[in-house]
Amino acid sequence: MTVTIRHMLAEDIPRVGAVMVAAFNNLFRRHGYPEPFPSPAAGTSIAQGYARLEPNECFTALQEGQIVGSGFIHLRGDTAGIGPITVDPSAQAQGAGRALMQAVIEAGGGCPSLRLVQDAFNVVSFPLYSSLGFEVRGTISSLVGRNIRGDVSEDVEIREWQAEYIEHLAALDTRLTGIGREQDLRFFHAQPPHIAALVQGQLAGYLCFLRTEAGTFFGPAAATQPSVLRALILSAAEREQGKALRMRFPTRHATLLRELLAVGFRVETLQTYMVRGAWQTPDGAELLALFPEAL
Ligand SMILES: CC(C)(COP(=O)(O)OP(=O)(O)OC[C@H]1O[C@@H](n2cnc3c(N)ncnc32)[C@H](O)[C@@H]1OP(=O)(O)O)[C@@H](O)C(=O)NCCC(=O)NCCS
Repeated sequence: MTVTIRHMLAEDIPRVGAVMVAAFNNLFRRHGYPEPFPSPAAGTSIAQGYARLEPNECFTALQEGQIVGSGFIHLRGDTAGIGPITVDPSAQAQGAGRALMQAVIEAGGGCPSLRLVQDAFNVVSFPLYSSLGFEVRGTISSLVGRNIRGDVSEDVEIREWQAEYIEHLAALDTRLTGIGREQDLRFFHAQPPHIAALVQGQLAGYLCFLRTEAGTFFGPAAATQPSVLRALILSAAEREQGKALRMRFPTRHATLLRELLAVGFRVETLQTYMVRGAWQTPDGAELLALFPEAL
């Protein structure tokens, strides 16, 4: 059956959201994991959010005039994040996923580094992305926790960041991770809380909170050292006592991973970080974002 791809229209959003939720819930259920989306409204609000922020970077897949999937890319200077890419379970394995990926790759044509996060248990998306030139650049532990407490080093001062920090934090972030996302820091600034770390009076890191119906997601975050990221995470956990906490943690920070497991975080799933094009391992330590996806 022929698949056509077009820019997402406002009227597509309810169906796009429903397909997103159905695709992920079906995937996780089939692999014995809890469904990640508690309600269809979450999919709609993701599609709505991206349509508002990046209307030219949202795509819809149609078969016989019916919406069967969607794909999103988030262009940030020399890097871009891709996702979510979803196809309705009833329309999978018929070429829609590949067509969506080709559309987002084309939209990111001028961008030297395209990035995405893939669930390691998904043996459909992994070969699909590999065949399109994405290469594994790391393993992500999807960490969850609740009522986490741990001592924070006195050498690190944590405070809510002010508007005047944004430019400095964005510059620090680009130096550490290579990603230019001042626009995202401004987005998170508009919906507190968000925290910054200072070491000897100098900005040394930041962490954004994304409060969702599935809990509070920590990230994006970046810090000059794992110990600074640790202080940011534990301080954020202290502020979100009683809530489910989630984050995408790059597993290469092995010592910090051990420390987070020791204070009660658990690994829910493993994910693969895949990059098409330029890549340099970030300096310092970072958490990947869920919004915008995969950066
Ligand atoms: C991942 C997803 C978007 C793919 O969409 P799709 O329409 O099913 O995929 P397509 O039919 O376009 O392509 C799948 C490709 O993988 C290949 N494939 C599938 N299983 C494979 C395996 N185990 N080994 C090797 N190749 C495999 C297929 O042969 C096909 O390749 P082809 O294009 O060369 O024929 C879809 O399955 C989905 O929505 N899954 C749930 C949500 C999800 O995980 N999204 C990705 C988030 S990162």
